[in-house]
Amino acid sequence: MAALSHHDSQPLEARDTQLRNRALVRGWLYIVLLVLFVLVVVGGATRLTESGLSITEWKPIHGVIPPLNEAEWQEEFAKYQQIPQYEELNQGMTLDGFKTIFWWEWAHRVLARGVGIVFALPLAFFLWSGRIERGLGGKLGFILALGALQGAIGWWMVASGLVGRTDVSQYRLATHLTLAALIFAATMVVARGLAPHSEPLADRQTQRFAGILVALALVQIYLGGLVAGLNAGLSYNTWPLMDGALVPGDLLVVEPVWRNFFENPKTVQFVHRLGAYAILAAALWHMVETGRRQRGTTHARRALVLFCLLLVQALIGIATLVMQVPLHWALLHQGFALVVLGFAAAHWRGTKGSYPLETDVVERG
Ligand code: HEM
Repeated sequence: MAALSHHDSQPLEARDTQLRNRALVRGWLYIVLLVLFVLVVVGGATRLTESGLSITEWKPIHGVIPPLNEAEWQEEFAKYQQIPQYEELNQGMTLDGFKTIFWWEWAHRVLARGVGIVFALPLAFFLWSGRIERGLGGKLGFILALGALQGAIGWWMVASGLVGRTDVSQYRLATHLTLAALIFAATMVVARGLAPHSEPLADRQTQRFAGILVALALVQIYLGGLVAGLNAGLSYNTWPLMDGALVPGDLLVVEPVWRNFFENPKTVQFVHRLGAYAILAAALWHMVETGRRQRGTTHARRALVLFCLLLVQALIGIATLVMQVPLHWALLHQGFALVVLGFAAAHWRGTKGSYPLETDVVERG
């Protein structure tokens, strides 16, 4: 650097500024990831404590204020007493019982708005102060749009449980969970794209396969959402056999056949098991191949860690199943799914290195 003339040092200064901005934006995205993680876990607790239908309206702004006095509590409880879930499952629930389920759902909704603010306000500030480099604004805007869509999907999901049934549609629950996971993964990818990477890029095949693992993890999370939405983990609580066989019978009893994969608890659980074996096999292959092609690199080490994380996740899944879905195990299984996905996303971006710096282009030119 000392050998550079005054003229040559200008791009370097610009480079330093850009790296500083990247560190700042990255730090903010890590905070967003943390809040997203808590939001997803609270969402899981809301579902597992069957609290998700306790607030029967969607008021994006006013919904933040909970009932403040006895009369307001009674009013909120009366609204809940109108829906089939109360009539068929919770008749005789006390006001205190109602408050418990209310607070879970309320916390989930407030956290969701909170993450919106933690995302949107700093984004506006960074844009205003010129800290968002070219190309990055579009990516962050896309994540913000996914977040807004997620709010609407959350309500679309709750709405499915307010009339004619006592729980929400498993299709909508799985969509809501998968979109949450997609937002998490996308945020991780952008954050890691802004990080400096000391390792040379991985070869094309390693990059591509790391990307496939992210996609497989998202599919497996969708399948998990279907299992959860159908309460399909409350039956066939044995492993490795299911209903006494490796491949149980009666998987395709519902007509038309495709519906079994979404509506038949037995088939849905079986497919989630198969999905786990498939992703484990893919991650094992990736670990061996990356170890061979990229021996001794960070990429190889990360491929190994990813396989281990998936193995642990499968073991947690099995434990959740054989113990008939205890709250804490089910929550651990859901939270760990995000850890696995987040790591897979970081690994994928790592194989491709950082986003090119604008100043790199200037320097080469
Ligand atoms: C290895 C990759 C796996 C991933 C990424 C994964 C992911 C998920 C996810 C995201 C859910 C939804 C959680 C929720 O919304 O509460 C879920 C549910 C579930 N998974 Fe897995 N899973 C995996 C493997 C397994 C295995 C091997 C089993 C058992 C053999 C299993 C059993 C279950 C059960 C019983 C549920 C329903 C839990 C509930 O009702 O809350 N999972 N899984």
